[in-house]
Amino acid sequence: MSTLKAVRGTRDLLPPETELWNHVEATARRVFARYNFGEIRTPVFEETSLFARGVGEETDIVSKEMYTWEDRERFDVQGLINAWTNVQVTERGHVLESAIPKMLQAVEKFGVRLILGRRNPEKPEFVAFGSKVTREAVEGLTNAKKELRTSNVFRYSPDADYLRRFGPGLRLVVPAGLPTEDIALGEVIVEEFPGHFNKSVQSLTLRPENTAGVVRAYIEHKLGETGLLQKLYYIGPQFRRERPQKGRYRQFWQIGAEAIGPPSAGSESPLRDAEVLEMLAAFLDELGIEGWRLEINSVGSATDRARYVAALREALAPVKHRMCEDNQRRAETNPLRVLDSKDENDQEIINGLPKIADYLDEDSKAHFAAVLAVLDKCGVKYEVNPRLVRGLDYYTRTTFEFTHGGLGAQNALLGGGRYDGLSEALGGPKAPGIGFAMGEDRLILTLQAQQEQAAALADAFIAPLSAELNPAALELARELRRAGLRIELGDGSFRLKKSFEIGNKLARKIVLLGEDEVKSDILTVKDFASGEQVKVARGVLAHALHATSK
Ligand code: HAM
Repeated sequence: MSTLKAVRGTRDLLPPETELWNHVEATARRVFARYNFGEIRTPVFEETSLFARGVGEETDIVSKEMYTWEDRERFDVQGLINAWTNVQVTERGHVLESAIPKMLQAVEKFGVRLILGRRNPEKPEFVAFGSKVTREAVEGLTNAKKELRTSNVFRYSPDADYLRRFGPGLRLVVPAGLPTEDIALGEVIVEEFPGHFNKSVQSLTLRPENTAGVVRAYIEHKLGETGLLQKLYYIGPQFRRERPQKGRYRQFWQIGAEAIGPPSAGSESPLRDAEVLEMLAAFLDELGIEGWRLEINSVGSATDRARYVAALREALAPVKHRMCEDNQRRAETNPLRVLDSKDENDQEIINGLPKIADYLDEDSKAHFAAVLAVLDKCGVKYEVNPRLVRGLDYYTRTTFEFTHGGLGAQNALLGGGRYDGLSEALGGPKAPGIGFAMGEDRLILTLQAQQEQAAALADAFIAPLSAELNPAALELARELRRAGLRIELGDGSFRLKKSFEIGNKLARKIVLLGEDEVKSDILTVKDFASGEQVKVARGVLAHALHATSK
């Protein structure tokens, strides 16, 4: 028997790794609570139309990546049999009830559930029950009749002779009102039977993201009527049928938050955008993620964007035939997506396309400038990326991504932005909002890489500044190693630049050992991560290195 494995793109999280997941989640809860966010838990599946209307029909997520199914109440075959049999007995005549259990067992062999009935004793029938008229059911019935003559399953039936003599008819009973497959029925009679054996059919989807679900809940529970800003965070799995690779899964985890409310609650204010970004910077720092970058842009109001998309279409029309197939398609269906194409050959064309900044109206420009001003004031570093438009249709004005170089192709740690019209698009009241979602899997990957790197690094790299100082360098190394430190020793023949390069790869700190240092017993120590350089007396050097070793 083949062994069962987790489905492609999904995985198990096991101890001790789950400890790291719990740590990340606990840090998120702690930091978000300081900003007065409360937790919301929405269902893992929703009606498909929520995502079609919220995220946008033309987006990759909705058009290609969702796990969607028709959800219907299970077909109740026994209910249909009981109801039908009852009617036959009470209204129309006579059913060979004694034969039913035996027949039910016997006909499994033919692939359809059959019982034997007859409206009147002169016309016996094979009767099959199904949720709909399918090819298999019709074939099964026809085969059942063929096999009747040769089979001995009816040997003990009191009616065997009787049946052989008459040759029963074939009847397929299905609940009324269901679509029928267009197939040849041959001699099979179809009877549609009234009754609710198969209830409402709904299209459902495993959530590919959670902003639409949160806004649906905001509308459903009339949270806007409180008049207050709703600050909600969530932690949970999301599902997208993407091609799996490092940092990209089909079931992945997001930690996200949304600040949404009526305009009177200040939900439109640039201060909200900046506060959310500052919270993210605080969270990543508290978690110890090093080297993140914040890229930010404004995609303007819905009307700004419509004008921009028209300009993009126009600019793409004469050049798109020179672009890759994907971009040719995007140029038609969703020109904004061309901007985040990574295709090398198309970059020149893309760089020459109109910039959204030139299509923003005065209000959007002022809003963006105000967001940046608050960030400057609180010292949150960012880069404006005019090509950052993001892959979901609901965004307006501020959009952003935090990236990390260590992640490779899937370098977005998190993404988010403002969605001032989403509530109205879902039939709710005016409720501007801003939020983000972090890829928890990617946070974990980044932390693991950092931990591995840290574990592999020596506490210090000793760099003698000339060959004559080599003996003194080994003496110092011996001293520090005896104190239990992990020390890498350079060589006096290395140029200073080379010592720094090697030291940076192998150790957390570099200790410079020149003539002055030897004479004064005061050493120069530089920390590679912080860039900080300090003088340390030799007598306390081991202690100082221990204090900062991880
Ligand atoms: P998103 O950019 O589609 O935005 O996803 C946010 C983050 O989820 C990404 O930056 C990435 O870290 C992670 N992510 C996405 N797809 C995958 C995947 N297949 N495997 C692993 N990680 C993945 C949203 O989902 C918006 N709802 C964010 C938002 C909230 N905007 C406003 N509020």
